[in-house]
Amino acid sequence: MPNLRFIGGIAWMAVTIAGCGAATPPSAQTPMPSEPTLINYVDPSVVQGLNTRTLFSGETGNRHVHAVYPAVADAPRLTEKLHGIVSEELDRFTRHGAPALPKPEFNVDWQLAAASPEVLGVRLRIGRSMESGWNESRTTVWYDRTKRRALDSADLLTGRPALVTLAGVVRGELALRGPLVTPNALRPDREMFDSLGFNPRGDLVVEFDDEQVGLGVAGRVAVAVPSATAAPLLSELGLRAQRAAVRAKRVPVPTSQEEIEAASTDKPPARSSKAGSVDCAKLRCVALTYDDGPGPETSRLLDTLRAHGARATFFSIGSNASARPDLLRRMRDEGHLVANHTWSHRDLTMLPSSKIADQLTRAQHTIAQTLGQVPALMRPPYGDSDIQVAAIAGRLNMAVVRWNVDSEDRQDADPQAIADRTVTRAEPGAIVLLHDSHPATVDAAPEILRRLSAAGYTFVTVPELYGSGEMVPGRIYESGGVSTALDR
Ligand code: NI
Repeated sequence: MPNLRFIGGIAWMAVTIAGCGAATPPSAQTPMPSEPTLINYVDPSVVQGLNTRTLFSGETGNRHVHAVYPAVADAPRLTEKLHGIVSEELDRFTRHGAPALPKPEFNVDWQLAAASPEVLGVRLRIGRSMESGWNESRTTVWYDRTKRRALDSADLLTGRPALVTLAGVVRGELALRGPLVTPNALRPDREMFDSLGFNPRGDLVVEFDDEQVGLGVAGRVAVAVPSATAAPLLSELGLRAQRAAVRAKRVPVPTSQEEIEAASTDKPPARSSKAGSVDCAKLRCVALTYDDGPGPETSRLLDTLRAHGARATFFSIGSNASARPDLLRRMRDEGHLVANHTWSHRDLTMLPSSKIADQLTRAQHTIAQTLGQVPALMRPPYGDSDIQVAAIAGRLNMAVVRWNVDSEDRQDADPQAIADRTVTRAEPGAIVLLHDSHPATVDAAPEILRRLSAAGYTFVTVPELYGSGEMVPGRIYESGGVSTALDR
């Protein structure tokens, strides 16, 4: 059995996404948690064989898309079901999503609702921009590890009569919530009850998509049904899922932005262990940067870099990093630099300042807890930053790093073409954009390294391009020695 534990970043995330509070009356026996619809998510790194799969991350047409889901090696049917849900939603968005908006965005974030030797629960939070604003739907898929079956949330219940009873309980609760909630929209169908989980007390948490049973401004509407009421409605799988959620060990949860920031600032800034060994004023240096990992391709890339004695900068996504801390540690140990590419790859220029800070600090916290070092560089998703993003990065002690050489790798499945473009466009002092989430990019790495080495290049991390000059937090860097007019 895996040793289940929680990491601060994950637990804290649960606090921040809890949203609309439930007004469930406290039971007489057990103290009520401060937010009963809060699910304490499981640290994904405790699940053996779990990796993040990237269906697509980047720009397609004018759309900004980050579509990911977890894959578990010994649960292919779970992986298949998650893939199906994400592809279908992405397909719908690509065909119809908000064509009137200048930069429509689609984003998937995921968490583990439970993990035990018997059961896994994966919650997908799928967001998309619509003409009316940002809209999120939530789906929790369950996996029965003993019978090797992937199931819907409704399968946590004994059957149709249980669903009708549960809908009645939830409607009664929603009726107390005031004018933003619309209990009459609730129907006892499986589709509507597609995101069920448990809080640490074992209460059944029923959550809805935005605008499903409430107005858009209501955000996430969720109800915690007390354990005693829910127990008779639960199937065998439901009871196992409930046990897994209750047994999971809890750790103190940092509750504020300040606490998260404090946990990061007591650690030294991240730097390559080999920084200072190369003088880029004298040598032809190039900084290869790999975004959107770590993922299933990353260790193969690390093997290639090691074989060529090359160093790189990894702009890691916090959510992916939380699943594969082993890869982050390997990057650090092999002289690479780990940097911040936000928690879940939202377009920061479309977010209010509190959410920009949230995206950055959450990733910062996860990486710092893993490495004992705090990233000093960030790269904004899609390369999109503005004065506000730069100012917040600056306050959080990070320089903003863009690039001046784009390998255009994600649009290409041909490693040869990626290698040709990268080698042709490289120049001394270049910051090169690549993606370790993209298999063809990893396939192209040996040839890129071989040809650029033959041309006299040394592969360094981004700060080494600037020699002894420190990179300034909040300043935007695009290539060695050059920073843009957006400097503060
Ligand atoms: Ni990216």
